[in-house]
This record gives sequence, C-alpha cells and structure tokens, in this order.
Amino acid sequence: MSGHGPAIPMTARKSAPLRGTAQIPGDKSISHRALILGALSVGETHVTGLLEGQDVLDTARAMRAFGAEVIQNGPGDWTVHGVGVGGFREPDCVIDCGNSGTGVRLIMGAMATTDITATFTGDASLNKRPMGRVTDPLALFGAQAVGRRGGRLPMTVIGAQDPVPARYHVPMPSAQVKSAVLLAGLNAPGQTVVIESEPTRDHSERMLRGFGAEITVEDTDEGRVITLTGQPELRGQNVAVPRDPSSAAFPVCAALMVQDSDILVPGVSQNPTRNGIFTTLQEMGADLVMENPRIEGGEPVADLRVRFSALKGVDVPPERAASMIDEYPILSALAATAEGVTTMRGVKELRVKESDRLDAMARGLEACGVRVSETEDSLTVHGMGAGGVPGGATVQTHLDHRIAMAFLCLGLTTQKPVTIDDASPIATSFPAFEGLMADLGGQITRDNT
Ligand code: S3P
Repeated sequence: MSGHGPAIPMTARKSAPLRGTAQIPGDKSISHRALILGALSVGETHVTGLLEGQDVLDTARAMRAFGAEVIQNGPGDWTVHGVGVGGFREPDCVIDCGNSGTGVRLIMGAMATTDITATFTGDASLNKRPMGRVTDPLALFGAQAVGRRGGRLPMTVIGAQDPVPARYHVPMPSAQVKSAVLLAGLNAPGQTVVIESEPTRDHSERMLRGFGAEITVEDTDEGRVITLTGQPELRGQNVAVPRDPSSAAFPVCAALMVQDSDILVPGVSQNPTRNGIFTTLQEMGADLVMENPRIEGGEPVADLRVRFSALKGVDVPPERAASMIDEYPILSALAATAEGVTTMRGVKELRVKESDRLDAMARGLEACGVRVSETEDSLTVHGMGAGGVPGGATVQTHLDHRIAMAFLCLGLTTQKPVTIDDASPIATSFPAFEGLMADLGGQITRDNT
C-alpha cells in the first residue's frame, strides 16, 4: 500500500505505573517468510500467529499476484496454496510493497530466477531506499534490473531465463540481502553459496530447512557460509509464528522507564540472532527476567517479566548490532532516561532503514532536551536519569514506525508531553500498539479526536 492515509499525530504523557500483560503480535520477519515460502511450495501451508501488519499484508497481496492462493481463515490464521519452486507466474500489475524493505527485497530474490518480469514500487520511504544491494547479487544469477537513479524503486526486475547458481559474500550485515540470494538460489541448478561476515537473523535458513530444502551452515574464518542446493521440491508446512522481539521491545522499554511499572510479556522469541536488546538491557541494570523458556514453532521463546529499573548508560559493541538492529530507536529513547552516557557503535545500517534512524533519533531527542552526538556509524546519548527528560516537543517520524513508537514510549515518562507528527506507519508492524499501551496504562492520545 504505497499511499498513506492522513497523518495521525499522537501525544504521550507522563503515566502512572504500567501494569498487566502485553500480548505481542507475530514476528514480522517470520511472517513475510512464511507467506513467501508457502507460495514457493507445493501443497498447503498453514500459518498461525501471522502478523497482520500492513507490511505483511502487502506481501500476501504480492504472493497472490505471482499466482499463489493466500487465504485468511481468521485472525492470524492463514492458508497458502503454493505454486512450487520456479512456478511463479508473471504479475499483471505493479507489485506495491508499501513501506516494507523486507517484502520487496525478499520477493525480488524469490522471482529473480524465474523467466518472468515484475515491476516493484513502494511508499515515499521505501522508494528512497537502496535496492542495488539486492539487484547486484541477483545479476550473478542472470537477472536484470532497471530502476531509478541510485538503484531506487520503482524498479523492474527481469528474471533469469537460464539461471546459474551464485556464490556471494554479502558486503554489509543484511538478512534481507542474504535471504534474497537464498530465495533466488532456490530456482538455480546446483549450489548457491552465501557468506556473511557477521551473523544476521537466520529465519530464512531455519525455514528453508523446515520446508524441505537442503541447506548447510558452517562457521569458518571467512564468516558464516550458507550453502543451498537448488531446485528442491519445497513442501507446504504448518508454521506457528512466534511473537516479535522487536515489537516486544517497546512495552518492555516503556515499563523500564515508567516508575513502578511491572508487566509480563509472554512468548517472545529469544532467537540468538535477534536477542541483543535483552542482553543490552540487562547490562544497563534492567530488572528483566526470562521466565519459562521453551521452544515454540521451532524458535526459542520465553515470557518476559519486566519491572521499572534505575538504568545506567552502557557501550553497545558493534558486534552486537546485527542482533538488535531494529531496537536502536527504542534503546536510544531509553538511554535518555538512564544515568550516564550510552554509546551505540557499528550502526551505520540504521541510516538506510525506513528513515535515517540515527538522524531521526538524534533530532527528536534533541527536541526533547537530550544531549546527543552522532558520527556516520555511531550515536551517543547523554542520559538524564529516570524522570529527567524535559520533553515538550513535537517530533518528526519520517514515515518510520519504530521512530514513532520510540518517542511515544519516551513521552510516557518525560516532564512535558511528547507529540509525534504521524503515528500512521505504526500499522505496518504493530497495529495493536495503541490499544496495548493503553491497556497497560500508557497515556497516549490521538490529537485530532
Ligand atoms: C529484516 C532484516 C533487517 C531488519 C528488518 C527485517 C528481515 O534488515 O532491519 O526490519 O526480515 O530480514 P537488513 O537485512 O536490511 O539489515
């Protein structure tokens, strides 16, 4: 959905202690992959706990355009009848991936080794983001792409007629690029090899294996080497989507910031390629306990018990960045309420997310009275202690759901309210955010109602 509706300004105010249970929706990364792999399989895939955020709904619509049958049976309960590896048909309309970098990059990969052509577009945020990082490796398979200057959408991808397998060392830590290459490798004969210097989220590898692909992962001196044997017959699966740790991070950090809060966040994924935020919070002194650890839907999960805590600033090392890449906006907000300085290093990938997140957080925090400094690759936040952030500002969110949620959480604990210019992008990843925060006791209101 490339058009956004009217902007929805919202204001967060100092709140009483947050209390209760936060039911987090399904993981966004896994939801996209369940639909795409379901579409590339033979037979039926049944997905429960699918995130029904706009990003994932856009991927569902795209899979229909490529020929799969995608049906919603009930809330979070979806069925996909796939067309098999190499079975995508040529869409007769432009594929609109809305706000979703994951959607567009994975789908480009999935169609790049089939002899079809597709044109992709997105919203104003997605159309600014670099696609060359995906189309460069897809060219190794024989695919071609023509887009706007700088490799931007709208862009047409012409799938390879006679795909060849590829060997590709991903030059930046990016699960989207890794996944696009693996998905392209599905319809290339022989072995496709992807090497990543730093491990990034491994949902594609886990799910490809679960759907019946032959895939090996080896840790070597070169990095993590992933080898996929092409042209498998993927078979439809039952997928139970775990709850999204990146969405959970918002109520978790809100509870850590708001005096005397005590909340439970059940069944949150603890996949080691995603859980860097929880390690960091514990280093800051958070009273965060992982209760009842277990395996659900093939992923480790736990119930998170979170109580308000006096936090201290920390240095977040670059090697942890990939495992918490989406959590830096809320961590930056939280760091403003800690005692002392927090420095986040090795985070230049944040400059090419839904917005330039380093810039968006730095400008928003400054507007709220917080001292920050940034380099191309780092952000430093000078904490003001619990209850010490002045607030009293309107923050620009640049069509970025995580910037919007980060400042609404911060506003629950600032001296004066924090307003954001537009909360509408929150629906891309966490449509239930407003209601969930209200149920916990957060004072967040729409300004135009
Ligand atoms: C994602 C990978 C990450 C992350 C995004 C989801 C995925 O992006 O920021 O929200 O599902 O593969 P990059 O791979 O570009 O780092």
